[in-house]
Amino acid sequence: MGIKLIFEAIFLFGSLYMLARAEPIEDKHALLDFINNISHSRNLNWDERTSVCNNWTGVTCNHDNSRVIAVRLPGIGFSGHIPLNTLGRLSALQILSLRSNGFSGSFPTDLLELGNLTGLYLQFNSFQGPLPWDFSVWKNLYVLNLSNNAFNGSIPPSVTNLTHLTALSLANNSLSGDIPDLNIPSLQLLDLSNNNLTGVVPQSLLKFPSSAFAGNKISPETSQPPVLPPTAQPKKHSSKFSESAILGIVIGSSALAFVSIALLLIITNRKKEDKKATAVKSEKKEKSLKRAASERHDKNGKLVFFEGCNLAFDLEDLLMASAEVLGKGTFGTTYKAALEDATTVAVKRLREVSIGRKDFEQQMEVVGKIRHENVAPLRSYYYSKDEKLMVYDFYNRGSVSVLLHAKRGEDRFPLDWETRMKIAIGVARGIAYIHLQNSGKLVHGNIKASNVFLNSRKYGCVSDLGLATLMNPIKPPIMRTAGYRAPEVTDTRKVSQASDVYSYGVLLLELLTGKSPVHAVGGEEVIHLVRWVHSVVREEWTGEVFDVELLRYPNIEEEMVAMLQIGMSCVARMPEQRPKMADVVKMVEDIRSVNTGNRPSSETKSPGSTPSLTPPMAQIGSSSVS
Ligand SMILES: *[C@@H]1O[C@H](CO)[C@@H](O)[C@H](O)[C@H]1NC(C)=O
Ligand SMILES: *[C@@H]1O[C@H](CO)[C@@H](O)[C@H](O)[C@H]1NC(C)=O
Ligand SMILES: *[C@@H]1O[C@H](CO)[C@@H](O)[C@H](O)[C@H]1NC(C)=O
Ligand SMILES: *[C@@H]1O[C@H](CO)[C@@H](O)[C@H](O)[C@H]1NC(C)=O
Ligand SMILES: *[C@@H]1O[C@H](CO)[C@@H](O)[C@H](O)[C@H]1NC(C)=O
Ligand SMILES: *[C@@H]1O[C@H](CO)[C@@H](O)[C@H](O)[C@H]1NC(C)=O
Ligand SMILES: *[C@@H]1O[C@H](CO)[C@@H](O)[C@H](O)[C@H]1NC(C)=O
Ligand SMILES: *[C@@H]1O[C@H](CO)[C@@H](O)[C@H](O)[C@H]1NC(C)=O
Repeated sequence: MGIKLIFEAIFLFGSLYMLARAEPIEDKHALLDFINNISHSRNLNWDERTSVCNNWTGVTCNHDNSRVIAVRLPGIGFSGHIPLNTLGRLSALQILSLRSNGFSGSFPTDLLELGNLTGLYLQFNSFQGPLPWDFSVWKNLYVLNLSNNAFNGSIPPSVTNLTHLTALSLANNSLSGDIPDLNIPSLQLLDLSNNNLTGVVPQSLLKFPSSAFAGNKISPETSQPPVLPPTAQPKKHSSKFSESAILGIVIGSSALAFVSIALLLIITNRKKEDKKATAVKSEKKEKSLKRAASERHDKNGKLVFFEGCNLAFDLEDLLMASAEVLGKGTFGTTYKAALEDATTVAVKRLREVSIGRKDFEQQMEVVGKIRHENVAPLRSYYYSKDEKLMVYDFYNRGSVSVLLHAKRGEDRFPLDWETRMKIAIGVARGIAYIHLQNSGKLVHGNIKASNVFLNSRKYGCVSDLGLATLMNPIKPPIMRTAGYRAPEVTDTRKVSQASDVYSYGVLLLELLTGKSPVHAVGGEEVIHLVRWVHSVVREEWTGEVFDVELLRYPNIEEEMVAMLQIGMSCVARMPEQRPKMADVVKMVEDIRSVNTGNRPSSETKSPGSTPSLTPPMAQIGSSSVS
């Protein structure tokens, strides 16, 4: 054996050893300086000789153990002032919880060094004096809880600079003065109760319940009723556009083009037929379009409505509706169509239907009968030789794909954990119901985030079902669908209930990681979500797998890990190893009794039971099939 090989082996083991032992020395010293200079009644196992990342109670590091990112020390019996220049050195810190201790003294200025803080929990201490004047350092702060202390003075206007804040509690202090106009759109929870505040509740805070302001000296008179936005302008109609403009839009295939479905049909028909001169006056043209549409389609097709559908329109109305392209999917393009009577529907125009009218109609009867809270109802369909349309309800919040991925990195409302749970539960119930139809043989066949919407109760609701079996064999993978497709479908091109379970598993992983099923990393390299999650879990990067947008929600780690386990079992490589959808419903429902929706509101458990991601994650790692 060559000497070189031996050296390489030694080097490899050496670096693995280093990696395993890596720890943030400077952060460790900062924590030691903190603990050695403050009195506390409960003992902490913070031993200089043990690993700060693996063995210290209440301390969490990032994935490569290079920085400390969370310190949670509730109820340790600390007393006295927070020593200066200690915690402030943990510059990568994201979560700091020192709640329910006996800290005293003025607001710890050290904490104003922590620019990456997302959650700060100082409630139930004896801090006193004014709040810091300038909050703007905490640009990333989501939760600020300073309740149950003895802070006095006024609320600094710079709180407005905490533009990501979702929860703010200053309750049970001695704050006085007026309430600043906290115009923070992301703010969802506010508690200013039991202070000495005066004046009126500002306009921007009227949306919060009066309990948020109880126990103050606030005058009941609120400023003014909210100003309603001016009524919307009447909708622009397709007839207002010139035909050449519309052609331009269609040819440019702008995703937001307002066009009429009739025009689209006519344009495609014209291509096949003759190319007449198009210089016609617009009024005349509209008539002829209408006539052409009806002539062409009355002969060999009609709009079929399903039971319980109270939509009152006919094909002609539909064709003349102003339409907006919502998206181009696996089986065709979907439009948002606004009808004259102000109803809005989603119309899907199928391409390349591979089966005859009879089979098509049979499948539509099965799908159209389904009425379930978590299945987007098919309202109507249209079948003719040249045109196949499906009419669904329109969901104005957009698909889960949009809610989850749009405008990442910019200011946006993140999709909160509560909603993600409800999406997961709703979709599971919807698919399980679909799997019971047609004597237990119906397959959804195309589960992906862009086919999932939120119903009126904000639970997930699946659309686009039962089309996979009508269409031509699946095309060479289109990127976005590819990530959801079970391995056996790629080979056999046949979808099944087990492949639905796989796609559902991918959707769960997407909700947990915030990553698309197939995403490009730095230029060329394409990452498949399932493979990526497997590798992360194997490496025990623990928390790294979860969407950073979820970091701000307290107390969800255990639920996220449980959900991850379900997701991993659904994406098992072999179809027969995947659970049945009905079992999946039970599993996701078991994560939490959803109908109560209650969770403890404090941000963490006592240190003895500090939620640790490692054990369940390790379990997943060992049981995973990949
Ligand atoms: C805290 O105690 C340590 C001993 O661990 C000492 O070396 C250090 O100077 C003290 N630091 C502060 C900020 O008081
Ligand atoms: C530190 O943690 C590791 C892994 O969590 C464990 O194997 C080891 O026994 C712990 N050491 C001490 C001294 O607690
Ligand atoms: C703080 O967060 C930013 C953005 O997430 C990151 O680039 C930076 O490295 C973080 N700072 C530290 C000290 O970790
Ligand atoms: C805040 O409290 C401190 C003592 O706790 C007191 O000296 C100070 O005057 C108070 N400030 C206000 C504005 O009430
Ligand atoms: C917000 O921060 C900016 C600088 O970061 C500062 O100029 C401004 O005064 C702050 N706003 C308030 C209300 O304090
Ligand atoms: C703040 O802390 C109090 C007391 O623990 C708790 O009741 C409240 O829910 C917390 N509020 C937020 C927004 O975290
Ligand atoms: C404020 O104190 C009162 C009385 O002690 C308590 O009932 C209430 O829950 C406290 N509010 C918060 C937000 O902790
Ligand atoms: C509120 O202010 C009054 C004086 O205006 C003072 O007597 C009282 O103690 C204050 N209450 C609190 C809870 O700070």
